[in-house]
Amino acid sequence: MTETIDVKMLSFTEKGDDRGRLVIVEGGQDIPFEIKRVFYIYGSDPDVVRGRHANRRSEFVLINVAGTSKVRVTDRKGNEMVIHLNRPHTGVYIPAMVWKDMYDFSPDSVLLVLSSEHYDPSEYIRDFDEYLKVWENGEA
Ligand code: TYD
Repeated sequence: MTETIDVKMLSFTEKGDDRGRLVIVEGGQDIPFEIKRVFYIYGSDPDVVRGRHANRRSEFVLINVAGTSKVRVTDRKGNEMVIHLNRPHTGVYIPAMVWKDMYDFSPDSVLLVLSSEHYDPSEYIRDFDEYLKVWENGEA
């Protein structure tokens, strides 16, 4: 049986008037965590695959504030799901311990990432076999 991975599509309030548009993302309200870190990814060629990791603790929300990209999430059972990030007022919530790859970046892609944790390289799992072991051993 195929299970769905526990990611969640989010839709943010968009306010527009004749001056342009404004999107609101409030930590703890529009997304399910308080934001401790913000980073953004741009200038990646379309054939680049980024991510290729899971995080023991960090939860993320990904928003393509400009351009488009895709994120593929994979769980420990090999279930996969591809999310198309193509609108500045939508995002995807990715819980901890989900393997993720970001790819198919358009030339104008700016991928904004909100995180529940400060950067700690030791909570990044960059090897898929290790990711499976962490699950098996209940170490996350
Ligand atoms: P990396 O995790 O490979 O980026 P992504 O998975 O999003 O494609 O990070 C690239 C480099 O930037 C790596 O040397 C670690 C560093 N980095 C930080 O110092 N702080 C951060 O918050 C992030 C996300 C990365």
